[in-house]
Amino acid sequence: MEFTSEFFSKNRQRLLESSEAELIILSANGLLQRSSDTTFPFRQDSNFWYLTGIEEPDYILVIGSEVTFLIMPPRAEHRDLWDGAVDIKALQTTSGIEEILDHHAGWNKLDHLIKKIKKVHTITPVEAYFDSFGFYANPARGALLAALKKHRSLELIDIRKHIARLRQIKQEVEIMALQRAIDITAETLTEIRNNIETYKTEYELVADITSGYIRRGAAGHAYQPIVAGGGNAATIHYMSCNAELADNDLLLLDVGAEFKNYSADISRTWSRGKPSARQKAVFKAVEKVQQAAFKLLKPGVTFKAYEQQVDDLMAIELKELGLINDITDKKKLKKYYPHLASHFLGLDTHDAADYELPLAPGMVLTVEPGIYIPEENIGVRIEDNIVITKTGNKILSAALPHNLF
Ligand code: GLY
Ligand code: MN
Ligand code: MN
Repeated sequence: MEFTSEFFSKNRQRLLESSEAELIILSANGLLQRSSDTTFPFRQDSNFWYLTGIEEPDYILVIGSEVTFLIMPPRAEHRDLWDGAVDIKALQTTSGIEEILDHHAGWNKLDHLIKKIKKVHTITPVEAYFDSFGFYANPARGALLAALKKHRSLELIDIRKHIARLRQIKQEVEIMALQRAIDITAETLTEIRNNIETYKTEYELVADITSGYIRRGAAGHAYQPIVAGGGNAATIHYMSCNAELADNDLLLLDVGAEFKNYSADISRTWSRGKPSARQKAVFKAVEKVQQAAFKLLKPGVTFKAYEQQVDDLMAIELKELGLINDITDKKKLKKYYPHLASHFLGLDTHDAADYELPLAPGMVLTVEPGIYIPEENIGVRIEDNIVITKTGNKILSAALPHNLF
């Protein structure tokens, strides 16, 4: 599948129309220093990629009804030698944007345009990532805002929701890329499942998953893989993956390949030996909730109502397992099932979306109920990826069986 310049130019056009913006200004992600003169691997800002297809850091996109241009970042000459030269012609071909200006000329043009208008649309950094997640937002966005704020009377309007609503409905080529990311993940996990008894540690699994992805044409992991034996699975985003595997423990894998910037997000829980009756019962409970959840996902359903229904189904299973007494006790429910059943999936693993919108054809979601009982060394999550169709949904990860053992 090909993401042509038409895909990106149509996305720009649709954003202009849906937001009714006069001028939209967005930044690529910047390169981040790891130490000294080395950087963390670069991953483009998903919104910027969706509108340009460009993988270079620190470019700025300007779109309006009369103008479309890119501003290059300043770049020291010696970087061509170390990092390779940037092929401007290729950027033009990929994005369908003819006008790519150097930093000085680009900002001159932009400043001139801004002087004539009262407001611009951009992405304002309102989310406090550090407070809730403990990490920093990419500084490129902040740098652009600082530059725009020099125009004191300019009103900055957040365009995040408009982009999210476009990205939320996947186009055919996007579904194809997602399907490839999912297939690569499923093929890799099948290969590993067939030899599961040969693995003695979590990290051996990570090594072979990584290799399986790369050999099949993926860029790598869409997110830090979670490979968790026994009680480690009770840490929802367990990432150290350095423990030995015990024969009687369950093994939870939550992994996804990234293909053409699109993310798979699949979880399986496997038993390496003969599972205990309790392990089987917890697995069956999760599977039952997931099967019921699939049936709920169809056009017109609101995300909130769906999650409430899954919570109710999960409460019944938790009571059945003897973990809770009162199926209306949300706090107890969330002790054993602390996350949501679904999120949108696409360019980002937790994809941009307007969660208030009712489900509609083309939306892609995960379905991932889980039960975690650290005191019993048990964590089970089963996660599949679906696309909403006209009448219901299609499971994109159906090629990978759930088989506990
Ligand atoms: N892998 C993170 C998630 O399932 O949401
Ligand atoms: Mn996952
Ligand atoms: Mn997920």
